[in-house]
Amino acid sequence: MNIRELLNEKVLTAMHACGIPADLPALIAPGKKAGFGDYQANCAMGAAKAMGTNPRELAAKIVAALQPVLAGIADKLEIAGPGFINIDLNPTWLGEQIANAQVDARLNIATVSAPQNVVIDYSGPNLAKEMHVGHLRSTIIGDALARLLEFQGNKVIRQNHVGDWGTQFGMLIAELEEQLSSNKEMDLKDLEVFYQQAKKHFDDDAAFADKARSYVVRLQSGDADMLKLWAQFRELSLKHSNEIYKALNVTLKSTDVCGESFYNDDLAPLVKDLQQLGLAVESEGAVVVFFEEILNRDGEPLGMIIQKNDEGFLYATTDLAALRYRVNKLHANRIMYFIDARQSLHMQQVFLTSKKAKFVDDQVSLEHLAFGTMNGADGKPFKTRTGGTVKLADLLIEAVERAETLVRERATDLSDAEITEIARKVGIGSVKYSDLSKTRTNDYIFSWESMLSFEGNTAPYMQYAFTRVQSIFRKAGVTPDSLTSNIVIGTEQEKTLAIKLLQFSEVLDQVAREALPHLLCTYLYEIASLYMTFYEACPILKDGIEPEIRDSRLRLCHLVARTIEQGLDLLGIEVMDRM
Ligand code: ARG
Repeated sequence: MNIRELLNEKVLTAMHACGIPADLPALIAPGKKAGFGDYQANCAMGAAKAMGTNPRELAAKIVAALQPVLAGIADKLEIAGPGFINIDLNPTWLGEQIANAQVDARLNIATVSAPQNVVIDYSGPNLAKEMHVGHLRSTIIGDALARLLEFQGNKVIRQNHVGDWGTQFGMLIAELEEQLSSNKEMDLKDLEVFYQQAKKHFDDDAAFADKARSYVVRLQSGDADMLKLWAQFRELSLKHSNEIYKALNVTLKSTDVCGESFYNDDLAPLVKDLQQLGLAVESEGAVVVFFEEILNRDGEPLGMIIQKNDEGFLYATTDLAALRYRVNKLHANRIMYFIDARQSLHMQQVFLTSKKAKFVDDQVSLEHLAFGTMNGADGKPFKTRTGGTVKLADLLIEAVERAETLVRERATDLSDAEITEIARKVGIGSVKYSDLSKTRTNDYIFSWESMLSFEGNTAPYMQYAFTRVQSIFRKAGVTPDSLTSNIVIGTEQEKTLAIKLLQFSEVLDQVAREALPHLLCTYLYEIASLYMTFYEACPILKDGIEPEIRDSRLRLCHLVARTIEQGLDLLGIEVMDRM
């Protein structure tokens, strides 16, 4: 139970003792500034209004009832303004809470009481092409939520809905076949170049184009030779994605791939089901779902095609089949889609159709967690200098190279091998953190300078804060688990830091609920900043510091480091002992 939950329970008890109706809330929040208490309860004003009494008088009654209930937890209860109740926490109690968290493997963070089956749909690149920066946000934001929800004790089912079906594959397997026949060892080292070659071949050579078209038809009707080529191409392309995931420290595995092709067999039955339900109708030879709720520019119901007049199925058909599978076979309680905001209409239509068709009931939460675009300095989608799409592989190489230059400049006693490893963690961490620390729904501007800065809310700053604690322990010559002294919360700085540390689980709950990782970044940044303030004000290893105080402060430092490490790990970012 975190502090807010604990105080909530206690204040409610006191309110009931004062005869306040049980449905009125305690409204507990951390005190925002000096004079607000460590926490504040805003329960008296609403209750007084409902009961027709004076708010400050009611607050006084609640405080009297609260005093014994909070004995040992709060030191001072004070009525402020029109009837707020300020609660100052007891330093001894806080010290005990910190001590418990510091020795606990999970930092005393409980798992959720009702674990859910959570399906997380993220990354989902199209296998025809190489992964580019457009795939970055879905991949890393989705992965952060997968890590967090798992940490909280939910069953997370990752679904990498890759684009591995469609007309382009005819062209690609025709090209693969030709290249295989000329040089046996086929390696799609450069998927992008391969795609360009196939495209050029297709555009310039009519015979090749005809062949490609016939291959699509054969592929879609299940021809074994075609399926074999297709599987070969798919394998090579997935190998490329897996390399990117590994470089990015993203937890997606080959077994999480469940792409468009997986649903092939269910597409025709699905269209039939929707027709039988009267939700889909034939229109100009195609099968369409019309939405009374969504009108087009002419004020007519918007249509979503689920089968073309050439019998082919579409992206929407596959997504409907995927949704039904996730509910029926994966038993999802919550399905989270991390997809670009530009696909909002598509998702809205898929959700609406699934609900009307009763593929899903109201118990299941369907969430399109849209995100904005990563832009260049010009405010337009991030491109190479010549205007091409930026390959993710190239971006990550550049990040690590730039980080290496910085690490080398600062390094005093690091070996080359250490520098290489640190640069990798800093470079990759910076790309991820700079994205995750921005409000998900906004666009943001990609900037090497700001993401690699050692100042401000950045990965290098957070990683550096972690190494500072490690170096204190090296200097002190002690290991954290050898420290058993009580934790003394004796100064304002220690108290502020302690309370912030104990709010970790509240923050995680909110991030999990709203799928907003930037809130975790902000929190970690606050921890690092409060730590610096504490460090300035509270000497640790200076001569003359009593051993108990020294050890108490070391334990506080250790919890800071572990909180940063755990928080960054949930974001998929690594730390190091020195840099
Ligand atoms: N392959 C799609 C694209 O690149 C993304 C897939 C997202 N997931 C989904 N279920 N639609 O745009």
